[in-house]
Amino acid sequence: MDQNRFKVGFMSSLQTTALKEALRFYLECGVDEVLDNTAADRFAMPAPVSAVPPVKPSAPLFSGPSSSARSADMPLGKSEAQGQSASLAAAAKTLDELRSAIAGFEGLSIKKTATNMVFCDGNANAPVMLVGEAPGADEDRQGKPFVGVSGQLLDKILGCIGLDRQQDDPLKAIYISNIINWRPPGNRTPNPAEIVVSLPFIQRHIELVKPKILILCGGVSAKALLGRDESISKLRKGWHDYKTTDGQVIPAIATYHPAYLLRTPTQKRAVWADMLSVQEKRQDLNLLS
Ligand code: URA
Repeated sequence: MDQNRFKVGFMSSLQTTALKEALRFYLECGVDEVLDNTAADRFAMPAPVSAVPPVKPSAPLFSGPSSSARSADMPLGKSEAQGQSASLAAAAKTLDELRSAIAGFEGLSIKKTATNMVFCDGNANAPVMLVGEAPGADEDRQGKPFVGVSGQLLDKILGCIGLDRQQDDPLKAIYISNIINWRPPGNRTPNPAEIVVSLPFIQRHIELVKPKILILCGGVSAKALLGRDESISKLRKGWHDYKTTDGQVIPAIATYHPAYLLRTPTQKRAVWADMLSVQEKRQDLNLLS
């Protein structure tokens, strides 16, 4: 064999291996989005003169900074974005109108890095509605909530109480959505500002679906919709009254998120107890087929 051709082939296979390893390293670090065609050395750039401090993760959910300052997370100021999402949500008279309103809303920068909007899955006539946190990579690709590994576990859990998102019979079906409609990059937890700005959309979503029972899946969902700050392990004990702005009072139960169960399988027992409470509530409300 021509020695030069062997060398070139050998070098390029070494480079491919090195590139694959670099990609694997990035993925393990949570870097799984390409934001630009060329790399930017941000350490070499001057700091922006009027940088707006990011929203502190510890900031309370419902009383963040009231200024209309803009940050990288918020193309609009938080209160401006929240005002817009609230009026868009209120104006939506149907689920289709709500879906279009969310799709056209420019107040969240996570929309720019997401591939698809994730609005809902399941049967909108089902009396049981489940609200999760935010789409992950699989949901972002397919445009549907809970389709990745935690979604598969969720389907099994719901199957144990006879609920199936594919069912046409409303009494055997479930309707699923999330607090956030766009995937936060790298599957990070949505920040408080993103939650507050998105809240009017999911509140209107619930109002339009009019479920008879709400399952709040995970701490982010439970805290945001119940307006509470306690941990999910406290909030999951017992039923709550979820009140819509149009006066519906919907029994709501909080439970652990399936992603948490995948990491902490010992808590499956607790979720099973929560599902038995859902069964009792379905029975009380005459919602068992
Ligand atoms: N986790 C969620 O909370 N929602 C999804 O849609 C997927 C994972």
